[in-house]
Amino acid sequence: MILKPNQREQILPLPVVLITTVSSQGIRNAAPWSNFTPILRPLEEVILASWIKRDTLENIRRTGEFVVNIPQMGMEDAIMICARSYPPGVDEFLEAGLEPHPSTKVKAPGIEGCLAWAECVLEEELVREKFVLIIGKVVHLEVDERFFDADGSMDFQRARPLSVMLGKDGMSFTYPAFSGRYAEYREMFQASAARRKG
Ligand SMILES: Cc1cc2nc3c(=O)[nH]c(=O)nc-3n(C[C@H](O)[C@H](O)[C@H](O)COP(=O)(O)O)c2cc1C
Repeated sequence: MILKPNQREQILPLPVVLITTVSSQGIRNAAPWSNFTPILRPLEEVILASWIKRDTLENIRRTGEFVVNIPQMGMEDAIMICARSYPPGVDEFLEAGLEPHPSTKVKAPGIEGCLAWAECVLEEELVREKFVLIIGKVVHLEVDERFFDADGSMDFQRARPLSVMLGKDGMSFTYPAFSGRYAEYREMFQASAARRKG
């Protein structure tokens, strides 16, 4: 079966994060985001793709700051309330019944009940006609230790971080399951059989 190129987001699970910001008037905003990724392990930068008309983008531009919150299963309804379009003067924490989680290095609060909070500062914007890529640097990273081991690795089967599969008319929220295969990073640096022979 052939899909249209613009259906490329339907062929893979995407993360679901909540981006929290404040406006220059101090109004709290929360918005779900799936076009989010860390930029290469083990750097500290992340990237967000944003449509031009987003209060989140406006707030990041004005304040230079944002928090990436990692929601867990059960938060889908609050996520969908945050996905609605509100005027910039509306406090979206109140609309969605979200409790603030205090931030350490940025003004925007995180969201209580999330698994992790990455406080970020704006480093660079790549502006295109219809969208903007925001590159942010993580300046403070905190996790709910009930779901992480001492090394900072998530027990993802217990934590159930949300992801999403997009379809033509809607989206299904999902969470990761272990395939049964664990791989240490050093496996990537073993010489291949072909090179060993030569
Ligand atoms: C699961 C999910 C993922 C989303 N991902 C993005 C995204 O990556 N980029 C984007 O611009 N909008 C995305 N949206 C839409 C915004 O969350 C939505 O338009 C929201 O109202 C924007 O709020 P704001 O104007 O307060 O920033 C997503 C919505 C959902 C439900």
